[in-house]
Amino acid sequence: RRRIILDCDPGHDDAIAILLAHGSPAIELVAITTVAGNQTLAKVTRNARAVAELAGIRDVPIAAGCLRPLVREHATGADIHGESGLDGPDLPEPVEPVDPRHAVDLIVETVMSEPAQSITLVPIGPLTNIALAVRREPRIAERVREVVLMGGAYHRGNRTPVTEFNIGVDPEAAHIVFNEPWPLTMVGLEVTHQALATPDVLARIAAIQGRAARFVLDLLDFYGGTYRERQGFAAPPVHDPCAVAYVIDPAVLTVRPTVVDVELSGRLTTGMTVADLRSTAPESCHTHVATGLDRDRFWDLVVEALANVP
Ligand code: BDR
Ligand code: CA
Repeated sequence: RRRIILDCDPGHDDAIAILLAHGSPAIELVAITTVAGNQTLAKVTRNARAVAELAGIRDVPIAAGCLRPLVREHATGADIHGESGLDGPDLPEPVEPVDPRHAVDLIVETVMSEPAQSITLVPIGPLTNIALAVRREPRIAERVREVVLMGGAYHRGNRTPVTEFNIGVDPEAAHIVFNEPWPLTMVGLEVTHQALATPDVLARIAAIQGRAARFVLDLLDFYGGTYRERQGFAAPPVHDPCAVAYVIDPAVLTVRPTVVDVELSGRLTTGMTVADLRSTAPESCHTHVATGLDRDRFWDLVVEALANVP
């Protein structure tokens, strides 16, 4: 089983990513850490605990991380995720307490105390916690198995014409994370915009018994509405589970070694993930970019996982 720390900001698609990780027999969810992103830290942490409660996730530490980006003011994703960060469904009252550790400490302690190459970091929000963790303890860069993150884009953005939300919220943190020597895969908008919850997908989820599937339908109902109104999507892109799905089964994505850096001083392009797709990447290249999604395989994994959550 692949052992992951899921660093998230739930968030509708984050919530589905948590359920995918929990329901997949190929994944061991070692910890859930939260970061200010789609909503404030307090709200996304509460949401993560509520999702854990709903899914019966026990004995998985949930730790809160950074309250705001490293340098910039925090701008939320309330236009897509609502005032609570998870508007739409009724959420259960969380029972499991928050882990007393700061998320950055939890990440460092876990990576340093578990066997080398055993932990995969899966960040699906702004990269603030991951950046601070690797600055706090640089040895995690050679100790983690890999980093598989949802974020970035090499064609078009969603927060600005060229900037994706997770990178745009904290570009300095993203700059740190992309420039550390760990193996890193960027699962960006080019693939997540293919992971659309179309009516056939909704019908498959509706056929699953149990409250997790019901909850996902309620999530997608609200999220589909904001994506339709604000971004003109006929069906909403379910970004974050794409990163988890790649850890479960790498065949879900097509990836290629590509040098990537993050723009920090562009007048129009700050937060852009600049990917050099001109030619073959050098031997030393440690970053991969996802370029394609096997849609059927992806949704099969999501549906199977939801069926495993009672
Ligand atoms: C990313 O931004 C957030 O709104 C989503 O949860 C996802 O992580 C997509 O750009
Ligand atoms: Ca997210």
